[in-house]
Amino acid sequence: MQKKPWPLHDVRHWLEPGPVVLISSHWQGKSNIMTLGWYTILEFSPSLVGLMISSGNISFDMIRQSGECVINLPDVSLADTVARIGNCDGDQYDKFAEFGLTAEKSEHVTAPAIAECHANFECRVYDDAVVDRYNFFVMEVIAARVKPQPEWPKTLHYTGNGVFRTDGERIDKRQLFTKVS
Ligand SMILES: Cc1cc2nc3c(=O)[nH]c(=O)nc-3n(C[C@H](O)[C@H](O)[C@H](O)COP(=O)(O)O)c2cc1C
Repeated sequence: MQKKPWPLHDVRHWLEPGPVVLISSHWQGKSNIMTLGWYTILEFSPSLVGLMISSGNISFDMIRQSGECVINLPDVSLADTVARIGNCDGDQYDKFAEFGLTAEKSEHVTAPAIAECHANFECRVYDDAVVDRYNFFVMEVIAARVKPQPEWPKTLHYTGNGVFRTDGERIDKRQLFTKVS
């Protein structure tokens, strides 16, 4: 089948990383949450994750000032909440109260974890060298907690224009992985 040109501004439709996460933060007595789809694993050890957080977001300043956040992994049952949290501003809402989410005390950071999420990853800013240039925070994961069941929760993957996909079947190709894991 003949391929057709695709608009360059919308390559995210195909290359969007998943799954969508909720980023919780805390600064000067206030906690906040934002939805985030643009992030990437950068290193195994130390465990580094890069987050693209637009500077217009309230969370940007909160994470910049506190140097901390929690990456929370929601499953598909939280789809409405994920969409709503990503469409309102933390200076107008207490998003934990507004969306009925439970703020759980973290072990190493002041930012609370979201109890309803499948997993919580406590992070500290590791490198802020490209925050001004690209709004890109390199975070180190310093604590991780995951619900034992289900082993593979149905996660949300954002394609733009308000549309998510969920993950599908597992494909096991372990026998081909001789060089990388
Ligand atoms: C599905 C989805 C994915 C999003 N991904 C990002 C992202 O990767 N980076 C970003 O800066 N904002 C992203 N947003 C937008 C923020 O979540 C949104 O601007 C939010 O209102 C910020 O909240 P705050 O101002 O309280 O920090 C996303 C929103 C949605 C709904």
